[in-house]
Amino acid sequence: MYARALENEFAREVRAGLTRPGQKTLPCHYLYDDVGSALFEAITYLPEYGLTRADARVIQAHAGDLLECLPPNIVTAELGSGTGTKTRAILERLQQRQTVTYFPIDVSEVALEKCAQDLGPLGSVFPIAASYLDGLREVAAGRADGQTLLVLFLGSTIGNFEPEAATDFLYGIRSCLQPGDALLLGTDLVKSVELLRAAYDDPTGVTAAFNLNLLARINRELDADFDLRQFEHVIRYDAPLQRIEMHLRSRVYQSVCIRAAELNVDFVPNETIFTEACHKFRPEQICAMARTAGFRMEAQWTDLEWPFAESLLVVV
Ligand code: AVJ
Repeated sequence: MYARALENEFAREVRAGLTRPGQKTLPCHYLYDDVGSALFEAITYLPEYGLTRADARVIQAHAGDLLECLPPNIVTAELGSGTGTKTRAILERLQQRQTVTYFPIDVSEVALEKCAQDLGPLGSVFPIAASYLDGLREVAAGRADGQTLLVLFLGSTIGNFEPEAATDFLYGIRSCLQPGDALLLGTDLVKSVELLRAAYDDPTGVTAAFNLNLLARINRELDADFDLRQFEHVIRYDAPLQRIEMHLRSRVYQSVCIRAAELNVDFVPNETIFTEACHKFRPEQICAMARTAGFRMEAQWTDLEWPFAESLLVVV
């Protein structure tokens, strides 16, 4: 019953996105089924995709500085933890001064299970299979007096939101927290177009597979007949909007039937489906966004090899 309701939501969102006047779109969070999550993990190992390694490097280098900025008695929650690999450095540091309580929040139960297995030895790990804010509300509801929440939102996932939605989302996090609670926010910074092109259109085609898998997923779950060979992964860099866009471009005139969405959709040659936006930031934009959402910037650490920032935001 529950699975069916979710499936209907997927069908509804696919129908809405592909019947939209103008640019066809699909929501990017559907890129991450089991196949898509495995492909994304492969992306993080690509030499061209420096983002994840930069994120991990900054955390590794500054976990001690981070904890020095925070009061004692920390409870950690992570939005979109995946398997929590990057978080280990923080929890290991934390373990040196207190018992560790960690709530990884993710929609992937497979990832959560591995996370609990890998990080369980460091303390008490309580996985929450929920959307980001539902999970965070659950953590906040169970907090004890005297505890400070440290929320982690790493990997520049915030870059998937449109600027206004990103600020709204930070405000949503802020609404679950109390003054003095903290958010560690990882954001990819603006860098050369050449680096970004190579990162999002890698020569081995892993990112292309990651993108095309969205159509394969629709075939699998919504009884559709996308011919994946008739679509091509393309990226665009929108300089004024500071974002990489991923699209799937139709090579030919074609018509696709998506039975579970009760939909037939036509494509003309070169028409695209817009599947993901990855916004890049300037350090001062992160400050402005944080301030609007009710945080102050306590500290910001950056990686120079692959420009990336880790910002420690504290609830005012
Ligand atoms: C997981 C959203 C941070 O924007 O770089 C990687 C997703 N898409 N390659 C990113 C992604 C294509 C990634 N985020």
